[in-house]
Amino acid sequence: MLNEKEKLDALANLGIELSRVQDLDIVMEHILTEARRFVNADAGSIYIREKDMLHFTYTQNNTLQQRLSEGEKLIYSTFRIPINKESIAGYVAAAGKHLNLTDVYSIDPSCPFHFSKEFDKKTHYKTQSVLTIPLKNHHDDVIGILQIINAEDASQKVIAFSQDDERMMLHFASIAAVALERAQMTRAILLRMIQMAEMRDPKETGAHVNRVGGYAVELYERWARRRNLNQREVDQGRDILRMAAMLHDVGKIAISDLILKKPGRLDETEFTTMKQHTVLGARLFSDRQSDFDEAAAQVALNHHERWDGNGYPGHVDVQSGKAKKGYAQSGGRPMGKQGEQIPLYGRIVALADVYDALSSARVYKDAWDESKVLDTIESESKKHFDPELVEIFFSSLDFLRAIQRRYRDTD
Ligand code: C2E
Ligand code: SIN
Ligand code: SIN
Ligand code: SIN
Ligand code: FE
Ligand code: FE
Repeated sequence: MLNEKEKLDALANLGIELSRVQDLDIVMEHILTEARRFVNADAGSIYIREKDMLHFTYTQNNTLQQRLSEGEKLIYSTFRIPINKESIAGYVAAAGKHLNLTDVYSIDPSCPFHFSKEFDKKTHYKTQSVLTIPLKNHHDDVIGILQIINAEDASQKVIAFSQDDERMMLHFASIAAVALERAQMTRAILLRMIQMAEMRDPKETGAHVNRVGGYAVELYERWARRRNLNQREVDQGRDILRMAAMLHDVGKIAISDLILKKPGRLDETEFTTMKQHTVLGARLFSDRQSDFDEAAAQVALNHHERWDGNGYPGHVDVQSGKAKKGYAQSGGRPMGKQGEQIPLYGRIVALADVYDALSSARVYKDAWDESKVLDTIESESKKHFDPELVEIFFSSLDFLRAIQRRYRDTD
């Protein structure tokens, strides 16, 4: 448990920390982790407001986590509840006021809201004390809900949340809300950019890029864990990678609709043009002003390289698009990058992109059955893909599927 001095220090750091981290998903994880640490709570959830519904998006649960083997994460389902006075979270969102409940199994029957026992039943968890706080933006609108569950004393006995906890969490929620609102805005801007740039078709936005970003981060985290990379480094890395991965095909902005939307197979000339989307994308970020520009250029340029060296565009100069000095083959064609010559983010997004492309319908193909997708990925280990990443892919399959369910195509 944290003492008072540690709490003050942590609070001072939190604002700084959250202002650095920009990606929406990662902001929410930070918020939950820090909130739970502050009041020594076993579990917590975040709900994000979508019009008149609350979307249950993030949850952490130490007890359930400990039932898993080391390194595994909880898989949880997302769901939506209406904002009305019947549920605890709905009530808090509707009223705009926090609620501190000592035991949700003995809520006074005269209260308008009820505790839903479904989650406990499904997971054999015992929810008891619940502190639920609205996250409000600067217009005082509720943009989400922070729910902290089961405060524990030093001997891990569940206790009520104190008034001190309440005050602490209210302050905390105001910082978190600012970070959340900003991350939501950035995400919206990013998605709009991608929608305009890449797809040019309102039906084809959002889901694909969100999935590729999600898969890439999942693979990266596990890759980093195997190497015991420092957590702060990993947090920064995955934040940047998610955005970069979402923009992997942004170079398609320069490819004509005739090719991009062609319902059948591309001929050789068309495919040669299409391949340009890698270099064109990388050029957009070639100023390399920030780590993000660097990563986005890396991903755009390298996401179609192959581990065996037969990918594209190969060792090219981004500005000219021609082979780099010393890397020209006969006819001036650039040599392909091979193995670890391909930057990590490129190798990761290559796998994430193909997994998603095969699993989804495209203008030129139907979606494949999962078994066929998995067979292909397995047999492409060491050919198309980094074999270590393929191994990691199969060990994280349940999580990748959960991401797939979370970002379904709208039809
Ligand atoms: P994309 O649709 O996002 O596909 C990304 C990558 O997934 C492809 O890179 C390829 O490695 C893999 N992939 C997708 N569909 C299939 C498939 O049916 N079989 C196999 N074995 N692999 C598949 P690739 O081939 O370099 O293509 C890059 C981009 O070029 C594609 O992005 C897509 O936008 C376009 N493209 C490729 N082939 C065709 C085509 O036949 N018709 C049209 N209209 N576009 C195509
Ligand atoms: C995001 O929040 O997902 C994108 C952040 C950014 O573009 O800075
Ligand atoms: C609710 O707000 O009703 C859900 C609370 C919970 O299940 O933890
Ligand atoms: C979408 O992004 O909604 C569909 C694009 C795709 O998965 O091909
Ligand atoms: Fe691509
Ligand atoms: Fe793609």
